[in-house]
Amino acid sequence: MLFTAGCGEYSEKTVQPEIEEEAKDLIVVGFSQVGAESDWRKANTESMLETFTEENGYELIFEDAQQKQQNQITSIRTFIQREVDYIVVAPVMEDGWDTVLTEAKDAGIPVIVVDRQVAVEDKSLFTCWVGSDFELESRKVCEWLRSYCEVKEIEPDTVGIVNIQGTLGSSAQLGRSKGLREAVGRNGWNLIAEASGEYTQAKGREATARLLRQYDDINVVYCENDNEAFGAIEAIEATGKRVGNDIDKGQIMVISFDGVSEEAINDAKAGKISCIGECNPLHGPRVDKIIKDLENGVTPDKYEYVDEDIFSAVRDVRTVTVDDTDYDIVLLQ
Ligand code: AHR
Repeated sequence: MLFTAGCGEYSEKTVQPEIEEEAKDLIVVGFSQVGAESDWRKANTESMLETFTEENGYELIFEDAQQKQQNQITSIRTFIQREVDYIVVAPVMEDGWDTVLTEAKDAGIPVIVVDRQVAVEDKSLFTCWVGSDFELESRKVCEWLRSYCEVKEIEPDTVGIVNIQGTLGSSAQLGRSKGLREAVGRNGWNLIAEASGEYTQAKGREATARLLRQYDDINVVYCENDNEAFGAIEAIEATGKRVGNDIDKGQIMVISFDGVSEEAINDAKAGKISCIGECNPLHGPRVDKIIKDLENGVTPDKYEYVDEDIFSAVRDVRTVTVDDTDYDIVLLQ
């Protein structure tokens, strides 16, 4: 490519326009990411950065919103001004998107929502969404707890749960809290308290420590992600109590979501996290496929849910059934 075809002679003049031509062909994607609050989020960012490269035909404008919706709104307005080809957003929370997404629609820029959802009345404000069924994740995990208690003959009214919630108003929090509350009602457990840990280890530790000081009948800490679980384990151990499955023998059980980091899987193998509802962060290739489809005139599904597993090292429960579907537990060794 560095030589003029036919004459075998190097020419700067012929090289320059080709480079400019190539640069023009790149698909420009503006991606507004939630932040870097968790191991899940870091893995998700990595998946996006690895996918949206120049070699793959993209120019990526990456913006970290530091968990603030207002930063995302500002980024989206900048993407519109820069006339990007696609806007991709992983929204911090569900509400509050109508105005800025109307601006994107008016500018004719397709918006792909990834991970968490946006709650807008007019669904034409976004092209499509891909991510997890957070409520299903929760229902599977809660069914695991119900089966475990049944096998161990633990009376439902002796189960005392605190919920360390994620960022309030995010789809992951809403789905995981809803699944838990419904299971509590169905199974006759006690939901002692709920407090947000904002998906971080530090806040998860703080919230758990505060609740442990307030209540002495907690035997299950349901954390809405693994980083909160790491904090919860630290808080429980700092009180001199033991973390583990044997809630009928005075241990405190920790349950969580994600299963992305080695630390979480090792904690599960060591019995410190009893059950993890998988949340898959590898959305880069999924969004790439959506964009390729749109480029080829193919309409993607409006909602694309990702298949996810459930992990545990506890051998007493092998399968859970939710809405007539059986999910085998991935048994960690
Ligand atoms: O929206 C996905 C959730 O956000 C993950 O479970 C959590 O770890 C992250 O911060």
